Amino acid sequence: MANAQIERPEEAAEDWTVPQDWGRYSPAEHGMWDYLFERQARMLPDRVVPDFITGLDILRMDRPGIPRFDELSERLMKATGWQVVAVPGLVPDDVFFEHLANRRFVAGRFIRTPEQIDYLQEPDTFHDVFGHVPLLAHPAFADYMQAYGEGGMRADGLGSIERLARLYWYTVEFGLIRHEEGLRLFGAGIVSSYGESIFALDDPSPNRIGFDLRRLMRTKYRIDDYQQTYFVIDSFEDLLRQTVENDFAPIYEELVDSADLEPEDIEGADVVFAKGTQEYALAKAAA
Ligand code: PHE
Ligand code: FE
Repeated sequence: MANAQIERPEEAAEDWTVPQDWGRYSPAEHGMWDYLFERQARMLPDRVVPDFITGLDILRMDRPGIPRFDELSERLMKATGWQVVAVPGLVPDDVFFEHLANRRFVAGRFIRTPEQIDYLQEPDTFHDVFGHVPLLAHPAFADYMQAYGEGGMRADGLGSIERLARLYWYTVEFGLIRHEEGLRLFGAGIVSSYGESIFALDDPSPNRIGFDLRRLMRTKYRIDDYQQTYFVIDSFEDLLRQTVENDFAPIYEELVDSADLEPEDIEGADVVFAKGTQEYALAKAAA
């Protein structure tokens, strides 16, 4: 993801990319990938949107070890015209948007340490590659991500990055999607996390409510723990339609006068799949 106030490391090119330097990963680092991969690959099949599994297959991500970004790019390029490029860590918003607008996904090249197995502050290769890249092989999702980058460059000029960031957060990172047998996961922040992959679908705590663009743009989110609300999309095609075919400038304008919603709020007009107890968040807050 992106961040505003950071300086470009000397080793990075002007567009902030660096070589992945695949040969530099240690056996322990490859082992960390394998451990995380196997844990998620075992638990996700009945929880994640089937297109995610299709993406893993297309990218042949079931091989042991940290994937080579050049190989992923080659396969993705054939599927949807996307590439994966390495960056040292978080990049500024405008850099992030411009890469997306050009169908380049920026991925961290470092992998978490054993102490960080279940929680880390900055996205690592496992989150970025396992979490985000499989769905880039899906045509509608691939188009959505590019449009998001273009929308970001535009929102930047309109002073509305925060609104647009919420859209990324509640879809690309923490989105749920309808499926014939119930809800499924698709957000990268969920599918790369063992704990949240269970919590987001099974726990009675969080709200699960239908995707509504304006409503979502008014909703704050938390970055320090599991989400208190998940938004549910109908399909990637529908998400693409609702975002690409809508001019956001008047929506940003219209939202200037409406109050933000707290992460746990439910409103009268919400399509409620599940009203959460918020037990988890309340217990955390009391501790
Ligand atoms: N339609 C949006 C705009 O007018 C751009 C966008 C498309 C944003 C898709 C996000 C996702 O700015
Ligand atoms: Fe992410």
